[in-house]
Amino acid sequence: MKACIFDLDGVLVDTAKYHFIAWKKLANSLGFSFTEIQNEELKGISRVDSLNKLLGWGNIEKSDTEKLELATLKNDWYIDMIAEMTPEELLPGSKELLSELKENGIKIALGSASKNAPLILEKTGISPYFDAIVDGNSVSKSKPDPEVFLLAAKLVEADPQECIVFEDAQAGVEAGKRAGMKVIGIGKAEDLRQADFTVGSLAAVNLALLQTKN
Ligand code: G6P
Ligand code: MG
Repeated sequence: MKACIFDLDGVLVDTAKYHFIAWKKLANSLGFSFTEIQNEELKGISRVDSLNKLLGWGNIEKSDTEKLELATLKNDWYIDMIAEMTPEELLPGSKELLSELKENGIKIALGSASKNAPLILEKTGISPYFDAIVDGNSVSKSKPDPEVFLLAAKLVEADPQECIVFEDAQAGVEAGKRAGMKVIGIGKAEDLRQADFTVGSLAAVNLALLQTKN
């Protein structure tokens, strides 16, 4: 194993709660409700794909210009919240695993669909750990397309079979497998069937475990 590629939302930080508040506010402002179950379906999905799904649930049609305005409105509300994030919001085990990998010369990359990834990394203080950052600003195809992970591997000069991906979303697990990488699911095994194995959080992962599973 030469590199570890981390998804951000739901793996290193819990931003789903902020996405939920912002999407709910948008849905409510358009006159329909939005549930936690629907929010689950937006995990790993790009902002524009998420908006299209949301409008579909509300049976609402909008022009491309209106969609851009709505996506911007949602993102402004979301940024207001993530701008207040602190290192305390890192999920259990994140910092410890990043430190151990760094100390042992394993390359660390980000493979996230979020265009807000740089702000979140900065607010939580983990930017310095990353050798490469691939996010929603640098890819043209959304997960489950493997582009995000293949580009991350290329930037850290690792072959796909030398990479381990950490993912909490079905779309992301599929992207990692399609990239030809080993994928560790973060969450419940029944939700992430394509993952090579699943853990509850990064607190259950260390370098020794990664080496045995490799
Ligand atoms: C992650 C989250 C998704 C989010 C996407 C885009 O994959 O899991 O819920 O829609 O990033 O995030 P952004 O910050 O660009 O709106
Ligand atoms: Mg995620």
